[in-house]
Amino acid sequence: MDKRTEISKVLAEPQFGEQVTVMGWVRAFRNNKFIALNDGSCMKTLQVVVDSDKVEESVVKKINFHACIKATGQLIESQGAGQTMEILADTIEILGETNLEKYPLQPKRQTMEFLRENAHFRMRTNTFSAVFRLRHAIAYAIHKYYNDRGYYYMHSPIITGSDAEGAGEMFQVTTLDVNKPARTEDGAIDWGQDFFGKATNLTVSGQLQAEVAALSLGKVYTFGPTFRAENSNTSRHLAEFWMIEPEVAFADIHDDMDLAEDFVKYLINYVLDNYPDDLEVLDQRIQEAEKNMPKEKRRPMGLVEMLRFVVDNDFERITYTEAINVLRGSKDFKKGRFAYEPVWGEDLQSEHERYLVEKKFKKPVIVRDYPKDIKSFYMRQNDDDKTVAAMDVLFPYIGEVIGGSQREERLEVLEKRMQEMNIPEKELWWYLDLRKFGGAPHSGFGLGFERMVLFITGMGNIRDVIPFPRAPKTAEF
Ligand code: 4AD
Ligand code: MG
Repeated sequence: MDKRTEISKVLAEPQFGEQVTVMGWVRAFRNNKFIALNDGSCMKTLQVVVDSDKVEESVVKKINFHACIKATGQLIESQGAGQTMEILADTIEILGETNLEKYPLQPKRQTMEFLRENAHFRMRTNTFSAVFRLRHAIAYAIHKYYNDRGYYYMHSPIITGSDAEGAGEMFQVTTLDVNKPARTEDGAIDWGQDFFGKATNLTVSGQLQAEVAALSLGKVYTFGPTFRAENSNTSRHLAEFWMIEPEVAFADIHDDMDLAEDFVKYLINYVLDNYPDDLEVLDQRIQEAEKNMPKEKRRPMGLVEMLRFVVDNDFERITYTEAINVLRGSKDFKKGRFAYEPVWGEDLQSEHERYLVEKKFKKPVIVRDYPKDIKSFYMRQNDDDKTVAAMDVLFPYIGEVIGGSQREERLEVLEKRMQEMNIPEKELWWYLDLRKFGGAPHSGFGLGFERMVLFITGMGNIRDVIPFPRAPKTAEF
């Protein structure tokens, strides 16, 4: 194919007077003359001016919304307002027509729901192209952050026999015939005859395997897809999402919190420094969307302003017990504004988390030392015998973005806890071995990738920050 110059390059290093070929999708076409062309390489469009003496009318007729074209001409300084340069195109070739009458997208504002149903085209919009460029940027920054600090990227398995979180929210993986599964003599399903010779599922977390790696290589992280069959039809949950799980030997819960705060601030700074144009578009989207909302429903700050605010302030750090006391002492609780009563020993509801972050402290909050009965078996027990060294990082609008803990390294304590919580020791013999041979204090956490992307892009629904969302009754594309 003929060579093309990417629009990001044309804009960054304009070769005025030279012939340039660009290829991309028409975002807008004004007065049968001015094309706003985008090729995905950056947020901005390049103006292509159609030379009507040279381009045939039959071709001009086909230049319309989201048609794909190739344009060649001289790059000149623009006469008009709004752009500094333009291509004076003497040849235009239509690479892919768009029949606007049949095309699902139209050149007007479309709802997020509608665009989700047309996920195969939504990346052509300003909003979604910005979201997915930022998703890439954040993924890259994650690898850069850990690589620059001497962590090793570990690939944890996607198919496992264990339930790392012990919550039983797993998708089963099997090659048995679901209509006629192999059965044992007593009529139970015979998993011994399944593909792996045992029951297996898609992983809910790579943590347990990351612990193996950390106790050899010192500092590691995983970054892969995880799967949860929780029937949560919310704007914060996916059935398939990506998680980043650092795991560090010789680190306690305080080191873990320091790493979490430094890490998420780094990601936000990376995007602020490198993707201002995409952030700007998303900032404007929010303002537009909130224009007709009552003031109390609008966000108190613009997107970029809020991201700066998060990186410029220390996160608040409190214990779970302090959090419960704050909530019970709050006006919101006393005036009956919570749907759920904050009670010691129970999970914080998202209304409680949002109160702490958005109303009380007005910045991200790290809550630690949760009651052991609402947390996973592997978390290290505190001396009070009631709580574990767990920590959650809570963000405005999103709630929990990170969940982590110091791990129980004491064999007897861990075994006792596994028995109490009915975690099959037989399945996790290798995990227990780590405590028997050369064990060490260690800690880690999981960052929900899409929740982080949701926060940084200011989008309202987690299904709009993953290209093809998987959620209850949703597996199109
Ligand atoms: O708090 P979680 O369940 O922690 C773990 O899985 C630990 N094994 C992590 C570790 O210590 N290595 O999940 C971690 C994060 C949550 O804080 C949340 O951001 C995200 O994963 N998450 C989800 N994101 C989207 N959809 C879901 N259904 C999610 N469930 C958890
Ligand atoms: Mg959690």
